[in-house]
Amino acid sequence: MREVEAIRKHPLYAEYYDRLRESEKERKFCCHQMEHLLDVARIAYICNLEKNMGIRKEVIYGAALLHDIGKSRQYEEGIPHEKASATIAKIILEDLPETYYSEEEKHAMLRAVLGHRREREDMEELERLLYLSDKRSRMCFDCGMETECNWSEEKKNLEITV
Ligand SMILES: [Fe+2]
Repeated sequence: MREVEAIRKHPLYAEYYDRLRESEKERKFCCHQMEHLLDVARIAYICNLEKNMGIRKEVIYGAALLHDIGKSRQYEEGIPHEKASATIAKIILEDLPETYYSEEEKHAMLRAVLGHRREREDMEELERLLYLSDKRSRMCFDCGMETECNWSEEKKNLEITV
């Protein structure tokens, strides 16, 4: 997928990904590196297929790869990571060749990154898909930190859901 690889290899993405890796070196709670980003992408793509949503694979994987990229700014500066990630994502998406994503796709991806942390009634399709896939990606039932985690009981995945 050239679009997704272009995002991953963008210098700004690489810079923030390194910062993220460094910030989470000692983290005992959920991390936000490639394993998580691709878990979210795959869950979202499966849902997209199951529900015949018709969203392009490159759009789902691109949004998933970008959604937590600003997390180091939350750790370091207290900036909510959905906002930091959307700012970084906008620069990266604007830098890509015009043929990679349409303007509508870029808008939907940025909207999804910005809105992925909280569910709202008026969520756009990709935004809701990313939100749900992000939550479903966490295996709380198999996590040693589950009792210390600040996720509410309703949010936690306490059993395998398919
Ligand atoms: Fe996430």
